[in-house]
Amino acid sequence: MIPIPQYPLYSAALAFNNCHAVRYELDADDDWAVDVAAMGRTVDEERAKGVDVRALVVINPGNPTGSCLTEANIQDILKLAHEKRLVVMADEVYQRNIYHPDQRPFISFKKVLRDFGKSGNVEEKELANQVELVSFHSISKGVSGECGRRGGYFELTNMDPKVEAQVYKMASVNLCPPLQGQIGVDLLVRPPKEGEPSYALWKEETEGIHETLKKRSQKMADQFAKLPGVKCGEAQGALYLFPEITLPPKAIEAAKKEERKPDLYYCLRLLDATGICVVPGSGFGKQPGPNGECFLRTTVLAKETDEFIQRFGDFHK
Ligand SMILES: Cc1ncc(COP(=O)(O)O)c(C=O)c1O
Repeated sequence: MIPIPQYPLYSAALAFNNCHAVRYELDADDDWAVDVAAMGRTVDEERAKGVDVRALVVINPGNPTGSCLTEANIQDILKLAHEKRLVVMADEVYQRNIYHPDQRPFISFKKVLRDFGKSGNVEEKELANQVELVSFHSISKGVSGECGRRGGYFELTNMDPKVEAQVYKMASVNLCPPLQGQIGVDLLVRPPKEGEPSYALWKEETEGIHETLKKRSQKMADQFAKLPGVKCGEAQGALYLFPEITLPPKAIEAAKKEERKPDLYYCLRLLDATGICVVPGSGFGKQPGPNGECFLRTTVLAKETDEFIQRFGDFHK
């Protein structure tokens, strides 16, 4: 099962491995939370059709949504996974990119699973030892690395020992990642500690980067929300905004003439007119709605935020 909107490598990996993608919709009106009851119904419906639903991917914090799931939402997902016997694949690569750690902290699936183990409730205790979980992390979204260095890890919790043995075997036949990636992973899992020589600089740079990204994200969200026909909530984390834009009938007509989806049409026109490159929501599985509602994803990585906002706004108007 994959979320919609989703990071597109999931649908691509499923297609590559000849697997069937079962989609579950994230709720745009509820901070892109997972509607767990609807997810449960989807599992039942797909199984009734003969689809052997095995695993469930959750991206938290979300790409492209910028959402950060609440503890209650994660608990419900784990309970559902237990009930339906699904492996949970928690993509937590944006765990350090959190904008409001006090109000909406990042909580890992593993922590929530372990906390169930401390519960007085027998079922919850059982769940803690039974739900099979794969947690993913990467050096590419933080400060200890970047995309091109290729470093990351996944951790298995409660995995069937026979499956784990196969995973080890498969990992062992691969050669090592590049040395820089390995160093990046080491830095990721063992950052400098207070009292160590690099601690002060590491803290200053790390906090500086995160603060900058947060400010840019807030500024961009504010400005998007002021544009006519645009809805954009504040992101809680990750590196993205995912505004909804309602296009007028003339734009939809023009897109039709070019045989393009309206969101792609808009993104290409934006690129031509301004040099700004954003990704159409349909690239993340979020298709344009019947009344011209489209999504697009933009990152908060570029340092020219003010210029971006200005040019985007001029184009949009
Ligand atoms: C949700 C999500 N998972 C995984 C990745 C892949 O990260 P890596 O750079 O480690 O391949 C990305 C990269 O954009 C991502 O957005």
